[in-house]
Amino acid sequence: MCGIYGYIGEKSVCEVMKGIKRLEYRGYDSAGIAIQTDLPFAEDGNTRNGDGITTIKNKGEISNLEKIVLNRVVKSNVAIGHTRWATHGQPNIKNSHPHLSHDGKWAIVHNGIIENYLELKEQLSSDFFVSETDTEVVAQMLEKYYNGDVLSTIKMVCEKLKGSYAFAIITSHCKNKIFVARQNSPVVVGYGKNYSVVCSDINSIKGDRILMIENGQFAVLEKGKLSVYDNCLKEIDINELGEIEKAGGEKLGDYSHYMQKEIEEIPIAIKRTVKAYANVETLEKILPKKRFEKIKNILIIGCGTAYHAGLVGQRLFEEEGIFCESAIASEFRYKPFTERKNTLAIFVSQSGETADTIGALKLCKQKGLKTLAITNVKNSSITFAADYCIYTNAGSEIGVASTKAYNCQLAVFYILSKYFNYLKHGDLKAYDEEIKNLRRIAKLIKYNDNKHICSKLAQKIHKARSIYMIGRGLDYNIAQEASLKLKEISYIHCEAYPAGELKHGTISLIDKNTFVFAFVTQEKIKDKTFGNINEVVAREGKIILFSPFDNANKKVCEEVKVPKIKERYYPLFIINYLQLISYYTALLLGNNPDKPRSLAKSVTVE
Ligand code: G6P
Repeated sequence: MCGIYGYIGEKSVCEVMKGIKRLEYRGYDSAGIAIQTDLPFAEDGNTRNGDGITTIKNKGEISNLEKIVLNRVVKSNVAIGHTRWATHGQPNIKNSHPHLSHDGKWAIVHNGIIENYLELKEQLSSDFFVSETDTEVVAQMLEKYYNGDVLSTIKMVCEKLKGSYAFAIITSHCKNKIFVARQNSPVVVGYGKNYSVVCSDINSIKGDRILMIENGQFAVLEKGKLSVYDNCLKEIDINELGEIEKAGGEKLGDYSHYMQKEIEEIPIAIKRTVKAYANVETLEKILPKKRFEKIKNILIIGCGTAYHAGLVGQRLFEEEGIFCESAIASEFRYKPFTERKNTLAIFVSQSGETADTIGALKLCKQKGLKTLAITNVKNSSITFAADYCIYTNAGSEIGVASTKAYNCQLAVFYILSKYFNYLKHGDLKAYDEEIKNLRRIAKLIKYNDNKHICSKLAQKIHKARSIYMIGRGLDYNIAQEASLKLKEISYIHCEAYPAGELKHGTISLIDKNTFVFAFVTQEKIKDKTFGNINEVVAREGKIILFSPFDNANKKVCEEVKVPKIKERYYPLFIINYLQLISYYTALLLGNNPDKPRSLAKSVTVE
């Protein structure tokens, strides 16, 4: 959600443009750059000169900004840039970052939300404001409270803020430096010979040495040099800070979209996850028997796709006789907390940065629960916040709609459910069997030739106004994730319903123009769902059936006969069809599946 990139060194403008491009998946409503320069530019709707600082901004994707930045000769050693996912004010040029102070001596880019910005704004002259953003308040405060020392001014201003932020700031009071501050929004800094760099995303920073900035710390970047200060502005020895392993950038290669590439990578990603935990000893080291054998209850929390993975996880733990609940992080945080004993709270997050999930984690920790993070991103904020951590190893996921990361989250839940069974009953055989089965499913997905049928189904549904997806038990969980995927990138209204619940209201919306995807994979309840399918057919609804079973009702519109596998693995297997159908549908509708409108890959605000 929003991306920050700042660079000091030669070709800083180019480096910042490349940097925010790598961050574009986090937000792409508008973008901007602030350049430290003594040569003012010709001003226009996109360009504004401050005092020794010029900002250039544009609406829409970064390519729009690129067009106006790269055809000018812009030489500067200091630049900060931002790609935005709007929270305060429309995604127009005025609201884009960087924001200048009224005197033009300060420019700031921001990730996060300043919750008390309206209150703070009242203390400033209203004539100074050009935008509706919370961030501009900080720019004006820096000007107002400037005390002759830049770092202590930033600290003083930060102390007045409530909410979350990662800031990169440049000022003509102190040239050739970038100032960084952090509170509850991730930010990393790096440096090498003749340059230094700041970025909001561990995976998008390029640098020889990369360090994480902790909450309450400040960093000052200079060419080839980095200084870090604690919340009292006492300098910290940077050799004592956690150094970060560099992540390799992901290239699109021959694929048209990251989503396509990431769906293709599902089998290999699952294999990687399974390999990491193939020996039970690995999990014994992460979740030692002594500390976990008494766990009686599990609580799983996440947002979006990660929440859906948790719902499948819940059923898997229940199959092992463990009481388990799931919750949406943003709901859980603000409901009364019920005391729980012997409870493990599991937090699922691909990015490891989702503000609500981390907020819920902190709450559970405060209440004395053991906390375990399941995440895909090494060194992400959640890995530091949780007591224990399991990586999904899906490889980096760039497409905003999560695909392979979901499959790997499921793989972790399959393994964990058998690990808890092993802790309870010492059943190592079942654990090893699980590992084998998951490898088989990965292979089955790899060789399952489903592209043709998925593209045919996309053709069929892409003009629909409204779609429903139904199932019971694990099949309902398939419907939930499938429907989220479809609406995220096709923008078609789509709702998942427990098959048995449809008749209690929603069936009134079914007519001859309504497609209803039905998932029927669980032997015990299949006849019940077939009954619900008949109810839809009786109202002329068009059923698209996914099932390994013979279908008694020949009136379905389309039938996808899926192979017979162990029932518990259907969520892992069938979702692949729906990921592809969503992808093809988005293409048919002319949508960019990698950058769906209004969404962001990681949501670092509440
Ligand atoms: C955003 C994304 C979703 C994702 C959710 C949770 O809303 O658009 O695709 O599922 O965040 O993200 P996380 O990184 O915590 O898994």
